[in-house]
Parts: sequence; structure tokens; C-alpha cells
Amino acid sequence: MADPAPYSREDDAVQPPLSFADFKASVVRAPTKPLIRVPHTLTEVTGPSGEGVWEKLMGGAVIDLTRQHSGTPIGERIVVSGRVVDENDRPVPGVMLEILQANAAGRYVHQYDQHQAPLDPNFTGAGRVVTDANGNYRIITIKPAPYPWYNQRNAWRPAHIHFSLTGSAFANRLVTQMYFPGDPLFPLDAIANAVPQAYRDRLVARFDMETAEPFWALGYRFDFVLRGRNATPVEN
Ligand SMILES: [Fe+2]
Repeated sequence: MADPAPYSREDDAVQPPLSFADFKASVVRAPTKPLIRVPHTLTEVTGPSGEGVWEKLMGGAVIDLTRQHSGTPIGERIVVSGRVVDENDRPVPGVMLEILQANAAGRYVHQYDQHQAPLDPNFTGAGRVVTDANGNYRIITIKPAPYPWYNQRNAWRPAHIHFSLTGSAFANRLVTQMYFPGDPLFPLDAIANAVPQAYRDRLVARFDMETAEPFWALGYRFDFVLRGRNATPVEN
């Protein structure tokens, strides 16, 4: 069998720079030497795949973060759903999405988060779901609140959900954050502002009544575009 084709180069114009002055931590952790481009071999262009592979590796899906404990968490229940597609808008099935977020008071269940906000004994804020045959995913959670951080004086992160996507290959792994529409903190956020302005709104979910469920939860749509294969050259 021939090796699968390598992935195309990512479009650097879309991505935030590794070092962004306003996002202080990025400056100290960014590489100071030129990057070395690693050629894509079989290791980079493949990954875990096949029916049920993620369940075998990671355990069953956790799609409802409001039912991980004996009681119901405090806060606004929401449904977040969307599609995972490649750069040619083709659905990508079998992608594992991992979710991490703060609770409705803006507090993480993490030893480094000790700020003055309550933990919720009924909310951990971590979940996991695999896209279906049409690249769709859906999770149920609690809308996270903003939280303070140490970037500059009186800095607060907008409400957000962390996502990590492990796709069909290690080369199209994607880690990002989803924000909520109309958040007054979004334009002030140093992490979001590191993304070039023309592409920044791609990080904001769309409020969607089709995703909402009557007397249960409001809904948001958020799609992901994974790095795709080299497009076949077209003859003009
Ligand atoms: Fe966060």
C-alpha cells in the first residue's frame, strides 16, 4: 500500500503568532529559534482510527457534563453542537473532541485555580465525544462564567470552552477555545486578540434556537475545520 499523501502547509495568516506581546505567557514560552519543519511521514499522516477505537483507548463518551454526579449542577444548561469538516468542507467522522471548562461561577476543578469562586460538587467540566458518520457532535453542559487571570491588571477571560480535537491523523490535531456571542470581554481578551482580526470571529459560537430544546436548554452551534489533504490540482 502506498503511503497516504502528506498534509498541505497550514495557512499561517489564519493562526495567531507563537509570541504575542499582550498575551504575556506566550512571550516567555514561544520558541526563540527558527522552527524546523518536520516532513510528514506515515507517523504524522495517520492516527487512531476505526469503529470504536476511541472508546477502547479512552473509555466511553461523556456527552452530558450535567449528569456526571448525583445532583444537577448550578447554572444555565446549554447544548453545544456542530460539525467537524476538513478544509474542503467534507465531514470528518471519528474525531475525538475533548472538552474542558470552568463552572457557572468561573472556577475550574484544578489545584492551580484557587480564586474566590465556589466549586460545584456536581460539575467537573470535562467531557469527551466522538463525531458521527456525518462529522456531527453534540454535548450538553453548563454555560461557563468569566474568570480572572494574571495577564495584566484586572484581567478577566471571557466565558469560553476549551476544545481539543484528535482527528484522522496527528498532523490535523486541533486545540482551540470557543467563545459566546456578545461577550463584552471578548474584544479585551489577549488570547483571542492574538488571532488575526479577520479570522477572530471564527472562535465565537452562534446562538441557535434549532439546537435549543424547549423547557430544557438553549443552544449554540460551533463548527471546526481541520487541516485537510492537499487538494487535487485543477487544470485550467
Ligand atoms: Fe480557560
